Amino acid sequence: MTCPRRFFQFTQMRLTMRRTGVVLMVGTLLLGCEPDDPELPEIGLPACGDLSPVTVSAVDPSATVTEIASPSEIAPNDRVGFPEDYRDDFFQFYVFDRFDAQLISYVCANEVAANTGPDEDYPYGSLLLSETWRPVMDEDGALAVDDDGRLIRGELAFALLMRKEPGFGEDYGADRSGEWEYVGFLPDGSYHTRPEESASCAACHTMGAMGERDFVFRTNVHHLPDRYARTDPVEEGEIGISRMAYHPADHTVSVGETVQWENSTIDETAHTVTGLDGSFGSDPLDPGGTFSHTFTAPGRYEYACALHPEQMRGVVEVTED
Ligand code: HEC
Repeated sequence: MTCPRRFFQFTQMRLTMRRTGVVLMVGTLLLGCEPDDPELPEIGLPACGDLSPVTVSAVDPSATVTEIASPSEIAPNDRVGFPEDYRDDFFQFYVFDRFDAQLISYVCANEVAANTGPDEDYPYGSLLLSETWRPVMDEDGALAVDDDGRLIRGELAFALLMRKEPGFGEDYGADRSGEWEYVGFLPDGSYHTRPEESASCAACHTMGAMGERDFVFRTNVHHLPDRYARTDPVEEGEIGISRMAYHPADHTVSVGETVQWENSTIDETAHTVTGLDGSFGSDPLDPGGTFSHTFTAPGRYEYACALHPEQMRGVVEVTED
């Protein structure tokens, strides 16, 4: 990555010592890289807030943008921060319809990040914001889709952010994912994941997205012409594997029934289905791979992915009848 123009940003914070009343000024110097031409037409991406109109007659068309309140309680150790005007200032990065988990990831990026080429690492100053939406359901309780077959944003559940700056991430220790730090907000502006809890974010981005993608899972989707990807709905009686999770993670069957797991092709990551009691288990399943097991005795069968045991857990309840 070449940098045509570098910039310095000095952020300062006032700390007042409670007992002595002494005021300390603490500052951080950020060194960033500005893209060659920051003009919007150069990027050619829609603004984050340009939501495509909802055009489905059977569905309540009141699916509107939910605002995230300004974060009310910023922790002093939050170095990610919340970009209040991101709907105007950020660009659409990609949309990922998760038919299996019944969620939508609507991801926006600031200008620096949105300009990053497919084989480049993200420059310092990159900020990615992933809104997780609950989709609109139709009258029968099934997932509603628009004229393009896409899920429709109903309700904003939370927003996750990652920011890359020099030296970021050192507090995450072994979980560190390059120089990114993470934080999450709920729509009321309070924390979904506080800075001091966000090592778990780094851990999953390290395991799943790895260094060659600069720890950003769906860089490749951003570079597709329509910046769109989806996971298929899970078949009745099946358990899907995607996004470092089992869908559904809780599944109930009757004695004698067979359960099939299928690893989605979307993540390009191998996973296993490994019973914690050792009574069943798969080899590593490549993307698209399946594994089946017939449960012959009632009970509660917990399992995990042997390759990602901290992140990926599930349970099958087997009942008598
Ligand atoms: C279980 C694994 C996992 C954990 C934990 C996790 N993520 Fe992610 N994250 C993903 C996956 C997979 C994607 C790709 C988009 C999708 O599948 O919805 C993603 C996408 C993102 C994106 C959009 C950029 C990208 O990588 O494609 C941001 C921003 C993000 N996550 C932030 C966070 C934050 C903040 C946390 C902690 C609160 C967090 N993530 C925790 C798996 C995880």
